[in-house]
Amino acid sequence: MANETRGFTSNIGAILAAAGGAVGLGNIWRYPYMLGQNGGGAFLLVNMFFVLMIGIPLMMSEFVIGRRTQSNVVGAYRKMSPDHKGWTVLGYFGIIAAVLIYAFYSVVAGWTLNYIVMASTGHLSGLEPAEVSEAFSAFTSHSFWPVLCQLLFLALTALVITFGVQKGIEKVSKILMPVLFILLLLMCVRSLTLPAASEGLSFLFRPDFSKLTGQGVLGALGQSFFSLSLGMGAMVTYGSYIRKEDSLFKTSLWISICDLMVAILAGVVIFPAVFSFGMDPAGGPQLVYVVLPNVFNSMPMGGVFAAIFFLLLGIAALTSTISLQEIVVAFTVEELHWSRRKSSIISMLVVFFIGVFCALSFGVLKDATIFGHTVFEFFDMITASYLMPIGALAMTIFLGWFFPKVEIKDEITNGGTLKGKLFELYYFILRYVAPLALLVILISGIVG
Ligand code: PHE
Repeated sequence: MANETRGFTSNIGAILAAAGGAVGLGNIWRYPYMLGQNGGGAFLLVNMFFVLMIGIPLMMSEFVIGRRTQSNVVGAYRKMSPDHKGWTVLGYFGIIAAVLIYAFYSVVAGWTLNYIVMASTGHLSGLEPAEVSEAFSAFTSHSFWPVLCQLLFLALTALVITFGVQKGIEKVSKILMPVLFILLLLMCVRSLTLPAASEGLSFLFRPDFSKLTGQGVLGALGQSFFSLSLGMGAMVTYGSYIRKEDSLFKTSLWISICDLMVAILAGVVIFPAVFSFGMDPAGGPQLVYVVLPNVFNSMPMGGVFAAIFFLLLGIAALTSTISLQEIVVAFTVEELHWSRRKSSIISMLVVFFIGVFCALSFGVLKDATIFGHTVFEFFDMITASYLMPIGALAMTIFLGWFFPKVEIKDEITNGGTLKGKLFELYYFILRYVAPLALLVILISGIVG
């Protein structure tokens, strides 16, 4: 059977691999600082709403496209629209988005390597808050170390990818995801026993809608796409590896639950600690690197917890960079007939070439701005706030309006063997709710 050689060997393998792709820096690094800047609990609620109403149906849709065609993202759109070849553009759009995301994402992923080493060798211990900030700026603005760390992270990812879908991606995810959960729970216990735990929790769970702006709502939508890896082909690619007998609805539901849970638990780790040590929850992208080391420094056995935390961050990042690179590698293997090895190496070098500009945008290139943003900020903003929602919008229009409903239903119900009770609701969201919501929010984001 084609499936046995091509894709994941079990449903749990598929869930863990795709959840690994979804759970990443987005949950532990990006979510807390976005939440901190946008009214805490209010952002959480809006984001949860988007995940449930739009995220899950869109993830199912990407799985439909991937599994139906058994193809990489470009091949998938080409096979699904033989008469309207134009839709293949959507596949290339996904590849470009993946490369741009990977370029800036690998910078922050690389930082985790430095911080794992610093924390475990005691170099973060005993520093004053000002020294922690200085250490962060000195490291990130350096012209060599962050670039080296980025390259190492890219190489580690490429190594896993060369082992293939089953022996590389699935195997690594099956080990790393449970480890990630255990480390996260351990950190939660530590944080919840801190003095101001309840203050942190009420910031996280008590919504203050007065702090949530239109931009904040756009950010919450962008965050749900970014966090679930939607709108750019990651889930199309992984969908093509899901076994024919697995339920796409249940698989999507589990992945989304894992993703939300990790984001919330990361908040449970971070905010009680931030409040207990009088830090600013709205500290921005540096939150976990500049604020948390102080927190660790002020607690017993802080060095150990710091090392655990950055390891956790690194693991989360790795399973995501794997999914990012797999989008590109699946494409070059299947469409250009390159070997997996050649694909891994070349795509890694391309991403590195672009990513260097992101890595250096905290130092020598910090004044090289695009529309007022550094290269790093620009890539982050353009992918999460625009490319991913636009990609998702185009996908809903294609699948909802130009692809036969019976075929979608056939794929979602596994050829009629599953009941598909919620199919009509799903289809309604796909055709009307999701595209409209995406359109409104995209426009308001552009105008406002
Ligand atoms: N979802 C990942 C995260 O939350 C980021 C990502 C986006 C990964 C797109 C793959 C594709 O960190």
